[in-house]
Amino acid sequence: MPPKVLVTGAAGQIGSELVGVLRDRYGAGNVVATDKAVTRAQVSAGIIEPLDVMHLSSVERAIRSHHVDTVFHLAAILSAAGESNSDLAWDVNMDGLKNVLDASSRLGVDRVFWPSSIGVFGPDAPKDRAPQGAALNPSTMYGITKVAGELLCAYYSQKHRVDVRSVRFPGLISSEAKPGGGTTDYAVEIFYSAIQSGEYTCFLSKGTTLPMMYMPDALRAATTIMEADPEKIRIRTSYNIGAMSFSAGELEAEISKHMPGFRVKYIPDSRQAIADTWPRSIDDAPARKDWGWREKYGIGAMTSDMLDKLETKLKAGQKTFNTTGSPARRNV
Ligand code: NAD
Ligand code: SER
Repeated sequence: MPPKVLVTGAAGQIGSELVGVLRDRYGAGNVVATDKAVTRAQVSAGIIEPLDVMHLSSVERAIRSHHVDTVFHLAAILSAAGESNSDLAWDVNMDGLKNVLDASSRLGVDRVFWPSSIGVFGPDAPKDRAPQGAALNPSTMYGITKVAGELLCAYYSQKHRVDVRSVRFPGLISSEAKPGGGTTDYAVEIFYSAIQSGEYTCFLSKGTTLPMMYMPDALRAATTIMEADPEKIRIRTSYNIGAMSFSAGELEAEISKHMPGFRVKYIPDSRQAIADTWPRSIDDAPARKDWGWREKYGIGAMTSDMLDKLETKLKAGQKTFNTTGSPARRNV
């Protein structure tokens, strides 16, 4: 029997693509896509409902009425947005997670997926290959909610027998929904600007290096850890997972291989201070050993695929698409 799945935050950067993957895997009728505000255009065809995770009774009603046994809880406020509104970040990230865990415990949900982040690390964590067991002393409200969330997930696994599984996603790069207020958003924006205008003003410095992952790998990580046998999940806080690390300047150089006229200016803003506290790369040996994590995309394959997908999407979306400002793409 396929699982009956509820996705929260389904209109976001991850949800807008994960819903389609889950519907392909388990059947469109078995996946309920929810968000505070969600439209049909944002997710693939199937059941779509409004759901605010701040309301426990609404979360319980959705789980009960659709006989849900698996939850992918994605609703959250990301790092940069969280620094602009720290009260909202605390409320949505903590109360939303606790409501999902409480409803899951009371209503007998089998499995919950909840993503943590590289935002759990702070300035005292090793910058290179930050290990699974590094000290977690983040200096952002987002990071604080992720560390507390990881501990809450482990607590509910032990005390309430909710089978919660989690990964610490790096910055995610994708071509469907635009990212929702994170520090790594530049790595998506840069592709839109390269295609639309041939130039980009980056809010991080040229040398800032962060762990990153292409969305197809992130979606595979989510489904792989959720389908793994329970005894393979030895870490019940959250697993480090890595794929690639690059600086903003290295991404500019990679895009320039395809678009030689591409120009980037670097004018760091408040997000630089957040990026400076995160590691350049992380060590994900436990995820590889325990449940077989392997990435498929590095910077070259990701860049090529992003440009292909975005060019197609932007041309289809804009009948009057003006390419005069953008540099010609050449085959690499
Ligand atoms: P996003 O900001 O793109 O989407 C989050 C969604 O949550 C939005 O559609 C928003 O409408 C919804 N939401 C906000 N408040 C809500 C509420 N009260 N009730 C219901 N829905 C609400 O975020 P994303 O990038 O899709 O991230 C999903 C999860 O993955 C988050 O936990 C995030 O911390 C984590 N993550 C993302 C990245 C990344 O690079 N995208 C990296 C690491 C971790
Ligand atoms: N991409 C996310 C952010 O920048 C990392 O969790 O907030």
